[in-house]
Amino acid sequence: MRKIAILGSTGSIGTNAIQVVNSLDNYELFALSAHSKLQVLGEQVIANRPAFAVASDPETARKSTFPDVDETDFLIGHDHLETIASHPDVDVVLAAIVGAAGLRSTWAAIESGKQVALANKETLVVAGPLAMSLAKQRNATILPVDSEHSAIFQALNGENPKNIRKVILTASGGPFRNASMDELRCATVKSALNHPTWQMGPKITVDSATMMNKSLELIEARWLFDLPAEKIEVVIHPQSIVHSLVEFVDGSVMAQLSPPDMKLPILYALTYPDRSSGPTEKLDFREAFHLDFQPPDFEKFPALLLGSEVARNGGTTGAVLNAANEAAVAAFLNGQIGFLDITRACRDVLKQHDFDPSPTLDQLISMDLWARKEINKWIAA
Ligand SMILES: NC(=O)c1ccc[n+]([C@@H]2O[C@H](COP(=O)([O-])OP(=O)(O)OC[C@H]3O[C@@H](n4cnc5c(N)ncnc54)[C@H](OP(=O)(O)O)[C@@H]3O)[C@@H](O)[C@H]2O)c1
Repeated sequence: MRKIAILGSTGSIGTNAIQVVNSLDNYELFALSAHSKLQVLGEQVIANRPAFAVASDPETARKSTFPDVDETDFLIGHDHLETIASHPDVDVVLAAIVGAAGLRSTWAAIESGKQVALANKETLVVAGPLAMSLAKQRNATILPVDSEHSAIFQALNGENPKNIRKVILTASGGPFRNASMDELRCATVKSALNHPTWQMGPKITVDSATMMNKSLELIEARWLFDLPAEKIEVVIHPQSIVHSLVEFVDGSVMAQLSPPDMKLPILYALTYPDRSSGPTEKLDFREAFHLDFQPPDFEKFPALLLGSEVARNGGTTGAVLNAANEAAVAAFLNGQIGFLDITRACRDVLKQHDFDPSPTLDQLISMDLWARKEINKWIAA
């Protein structure tokens, strides 16, 4: 049996992952974690009886009651995410916390040489070169859960990386794919959260609407596959069936197709290098369907340009862009700024920052805090 710790088990990826794990004969749920949804965590504990359940926010934990389950130890506090991520009995860690809040625990899993199924793209956006080199040193395997990176990983299976001409990340285009600039200016929280093809947590759903999510994915691909920024492109594909493509030097293009359902990339990361039938939706080629592709509109979605810039420059830029975006998205969701302000604020903070080409992890964490403060100043100005 392989023991798995799911960091962020109450989120969109986390709840899908529990279904996937329960469909596999050779996996045991060893540890779960939640931040604010402690009632959901309690229900997950009763249904799955893991050895550990972490409530990472002590404030919320103080106001909550936990079910009395003999098999489960409840641990309270953010540091315990690292306890379960590095626990000697754990074989696989699914990193599914949203945002830079997931960095330390993902780091602990890599440092302990675990197999890491990585949904928390922010780890690579903030600290890609450091995380990839740590994984090499500690013999940790990082397997992508983001559907685009899972598709690229599958298309590259058995290929020589020197034969890659480019990788092409597909993007649904989000809820505002066909919106005019005027409509974007007036976009509401409700309309930004209304994603046409994917059911996801609120932060990544807003990122899909601004297309900052694709930017973050471009940076993630830069470090995960060790590719120069110039070899990574984005194409709009509204159906979300082709999850990404790799073009080789001879002009062949390899794609991975499946319905938009995160259970498949989670399943693949947990069963790699094997495959298993799981609770995943399948394509039905007896029904007619078509696949459309179109270039992105950089004027309407300038966030995409920030991703290429950060992937080219590296250093402290990823930490700054990621933190600025997290703070700006939170401000948009709270009604403090407009939709177009999210990318404007990120661009301004990125421009102002003191660039360091080879920062330590501590410097990146300081940059993260600095960028969040700068966003607050930007909002107040
Ligand atoms: N959803 C998708 O389809 C999808 C696809 C590709 C990649 N991803 C990536 O997967 C990650 C998770 O996304 P999601 O959509 O599943 O997000 P989500 O639904 O918002 O869930 C986030 C999880 O993180 C926990 N969490 C939130 N803040 C935390 C904090 N400060 N400390 C510790 N835990 C915290 C949440 O706990 P509570 O719910 O208990 O507060 C929840 O379990 C993100 O990095 C995202 O970019 C998601």
